[in-house]
Amino acid sequence: MVKIESVDLLVTKIIRTIMASSIQTIKSARIESIADLYQSVRARTLEIVAPLEIEDYVIQTAEFMSPPRWHIGHTSWFFETVLQKYKAGYQTYSDEFLFYFNSYYEGFGARIERPKRGTRSRPTVRETKQYRAHIDEQMKGFINSLSDRDDAAEILSIVRLGLEHEMQHQELLVYDIKHLLCDQFDAPLKPAPGSLETVSGMAEIEGGLFELGDEGGMGVSPMSHAPEPRATFTWDNERPAHKVFLEDFAIDRALVSVSDYLQFMNDGGYRNFRWWHSAGWEKVTQDRWQAPLYWELHDGAWMIRDFGGLHRAVDKSNEPVAHVSFLEASAYAKWAGKRLPTEAEWEKAATFSPALDRKQTFPWGEAEPGEAQANLFENGHWSVAPLGAFPAGSSRYGCRQMIGDVWEWTTSDYVPYPGFKSDFDEYNDKWFVGQKVLRGGSFATPRRHIRATYRNFFYPHERWMIAGFRCAR
Ligand SMILES: [Fe+2]
Repeated sequence: MVKIESVDLLVTKIIRTIMASSIQTIKSARIESIADLYQSVRARTLEIVAPLEIEDYVIQTAEFMSPPRWHIGHTSWFFETVLQKYKAGYQTYSDEFLFYFNSYYEGFGARIERPKRGTRSRPTVRETKQYRAHIDEQMKGFINSLSDRDDAAEILSIVRLGLEHEMQHQELLVYDIKHLLCDQFDAPLKPAPGSLETVSGMAEIEGGLFELGDEGGMGVSPMSHAPEPRATFTWDNERPAHKVFLEDFAIDRALVSVSDYLQFMNDGGYRNFRWWHSAGWEKVTQDRWQAPLYWELHDGAWMIRDFGGLHRAVDKSNEPVAHVSFLEASAYAKWAGKRLPTEAEWEKAATFSPALDRKQTFPWGEAEPGEAQANLFENGHWSVAPLGAFPAGSSRYGCRQMIGDVWEWTTSDYVPYPGFKSDFDEYNDKWFVGQKVLRGGSFATPRRHIRATYRNFFYPHERWMIAGFRCAR
């Protein structure tokens, strides 16, 4: 008896030792992968702002945009809050910086009002970059010290969240630099690919029960997946997956193009109240909307300004329309005798494979987005690509460009999924009122930041972000 017991004990001990060492290996691998990701994401932000002149960093051209200096400081401030919370003896860099670089977090104290971010010249750009370098130095040491800590998993998850936050700000930087400088910005443009096929018509999609959202549990939770595959991160607002019922529906295979939208405009779309929600008609009459943002009328002809210059709209007729609000997208859809899709319809069209009878991570399957599948930030176009440019990115129903190019408006209100649990206070949960869901990412979205269950959200009137749409019926 005694002998058997001690063998059991020995086996248990061996198993424990193996488990401890494999947990340690998983932990080290995750630390390494987060450290690498930290370095590459932080470097990318500085690459985006590199062509700016010093004067460009501090100007706020509208209440809704933020000066580039603010973005590079704010993303560092986010990591400073992690250091303050988890690193013993960490000394706050500067109370003034905490005040200027906090965005909206009540939990982190007083802050400058958003519309006033461009009203001060201090901290200077040089000081902000020094702050950024200081935080990077601190974070590098801190991440590498985590292997000894029991709360390493929790901290790494928050660092990962901070990096996804920074990727969101990289995209916002593109919007804000466009508003600030547009074609005066010396963007490292690569020419967009040509159209390889004609995309038209609507995909007919069968209704029934559909599982909306991400299955969850893998997101910012523990070290179950190491080294870190990109798809393991999901925001809390994408979870939990839950069943919704869909009626049969049809959805456009292509995004609404500049040519489609010009027809709406030429048919008096902006002059006829009957296509518009009340809030939209108010914009048309009071703010004198006549066209999407960045469209200009020159000698009676519509022109579109983008990072590449000023172009005749008719020369861009086969490109997706961009910089439209939810209000304009809805008016167009009504004029066209259609409607916008719900987010569940969009997600089914983007992810469901009837042949496999299950969802896929991306419209084309499980593979990461590459050059041929979608127009995302790494493609380097700084612009939408024409319809028909990415046949390899097709969904199983034949819908194109669902990932990349433009975020797509849906009719769905941005509200928590049933069973929602917040991963981070004041991040996603405090915005669950009054905004609409957009899906799919844009040409400014980093590749590793997007997936088909991603829920972006903006107010219905906003249009400085890269948003377009497709219709449903
Ligand atoms: Fe932020």
